Amino acid sequence: MLKRFLFAAIILLLNSHHLFAQKFEKLAQTPPMGFNTWNTFQTNINEQMLKNMVDAYISSGMKDAGYQYFVLDDGWMAMQRDSSGNLVPDPEKFPGGMKNFVDYVHTKGLKFGIYNCAGTLTCGGYPGTRGYEYQDARFYAAMGVDYLKYDWCNTEGLNAKEAYTTMSKAIKAAGRPMIFSLCEWGNHKPWEWAENVGHLWRTTGDIGAGFGSLVNKGTWSALGVTGILDQQEGLRKYAGPGHWNDLDMLEVGNGMTYNEDRAHFSLWCMLAAPLMAGNDLRKMSNQTKTILTNKDVIAIDQDALGIEGFKYYAFEGLEIWVKPLVNNGLAVCFFNRSDRPQKIAYDWKAHQIKDTLSNREIDFNKSVFRIFDLWIKKPSGTTNSILKADIAAHDVLLLRLNKQ
Ligand code: GLA
Repeated sequence: MLKRFLFAAIILLLNSHHLFAQKFEKLAQTPPMGFNTWNTFQTNINEQMLKNMVDAYISSGMKDAGYQYFVLDDGWMAMQRDSSGNLVPDPEKFPGGMKNFVDYVHTKGLKFGIYNCAGTLTCGGYPGTRGYEYQDARFYAAMGVDYLKYDWCNTEGLNAKEAYTTMSKAIKAAGRPMIFSLCEWGNHKPWEWAENVGHLWRTTGDIGAGFGSLVNKGTWSALGVTGILDQQEGLRKYAGPGHWNDLDMLEVGNGMTYNEDRAHFSLWCMLAAPLMAGNDLRKMSNQTKTILTNKDVIAIDQDALGIEGFKYYAFEGLEIWVKPLVNNGLAVCFFNRSDRPQKIAYDWKAHQIKDTLSNREIDFNKSVFRIFDLWIKKPSGTTNSILKADIAAHDVLLLRLNKQ
C-alpha cells in the first residue's frame, strides 16, 4: 500500500514538474555567447550584409573562440502581419526570405536568434507579439529559431511576469528548444521571478559605447560600462547555470579606447554575463579581435561553476573583483576606474577572501596560488610575493589564480 502510494506520489510530482516547466532546460548552462545586430546597425540590416557578417563571424575566429548565436534584433519585419496574422520578414531586407537566411546561418555551424517584443509594437514600431504569443512561437520554430530576445516596449497594462511566462510557455509548446532572453530592462526585478521563465534577463536599460555612467545619445541617455556595473549590486545570487543576469550587449570595438574595451570585456566576464558582440564583425581591428577572442578571458566567463564574481574591495577608484572558478581556482580583476594611472603593491597574505555564496575561504598564508596574467598571457609569479603593477586609467589587470 505504502509502495503504491509512494509510486503515485512520484508520478504526480514528475507530472507537475512537467506541467510547470516553462522553459527549455539544459540550455545556457554557461552564459550565451554570440553576436547581435543592434548596437551597430539598429534597424539598418539586410540579407546580403548579414550573410557577409556571418562569413566574418567564421573568418575572424569568433566562432572558434566560442561565440555561437547570430541574433537579429529589431527591424527584421515588415510593418504588418499577413492576413492570417503571421509575422512577415521585410521582403526588401530579406529578398531570399528569412528561412533562407536562417539556413545560411545553420550551414555555417552557428545558431540563429531573433527579436520581438511583448507589447503591441516593438520598440522600433514593428508588429509586437501581444495576443499572438503561440502563433509567433510556432512561426519561429518553423523558421529554425534557436534564441528569442523578447523586449518590453508598448506593454501598457501588462504584467511583466505574466507576459514573459506566457511567451515562455508558448515557446515550450512550439517544441523547438530556444534560449529565451528577457529584455525588460530590470524594471520588474526579473531576477526574482524569471529563473524558470527564461535563460537570461536584462538588469538595466540600454548600453552605449562609453565608459562613464551615462552615454549621451542625443535624445536620450544610454548607460556606460560603469553605469551598468554599478547597477549589479545584490544581483549576484540570482545567477547560475541556465539563468543569467544580462548586462546588455558588448560595445567592444564601438568607439571606446583599447583599455576601456578590455576593461569592459573583463568585467562582463567576471560577472558571468552573456557575451553578445555588438560591433561590425566585417571590420574588426586587430585590437578588437584580440579582446573578443581571448580564450583565457572567455574561460572566466564560461567557467562551469557559473558563479558570478563580486566586488571584494573598492578604494579611490580602484576596485578588486573576485570570481570563484572550478578546481578551487579564482579570477581576480584589479579595475582602475579612475582617470589617472594607479600603482599597486598588493600583499595577498594580508587579505583573506571570504565568500559565503560559493563557500570559499582563502587565506594566502595557508595556500599558495600560481598567477597567470590573462591579457599579457604570461605566468606572473605566485601569491607568496607582493603583486606590483601599474594600471592605466580605465584599465584592468586580470589574473587567474590556480592552487599550487
Ligand atoms: C530596446 C532594447 C534594445 C534593442 C532595442 C530595439 O531598447 O533594450 O536592446 O533591442 O529595443 O528596438
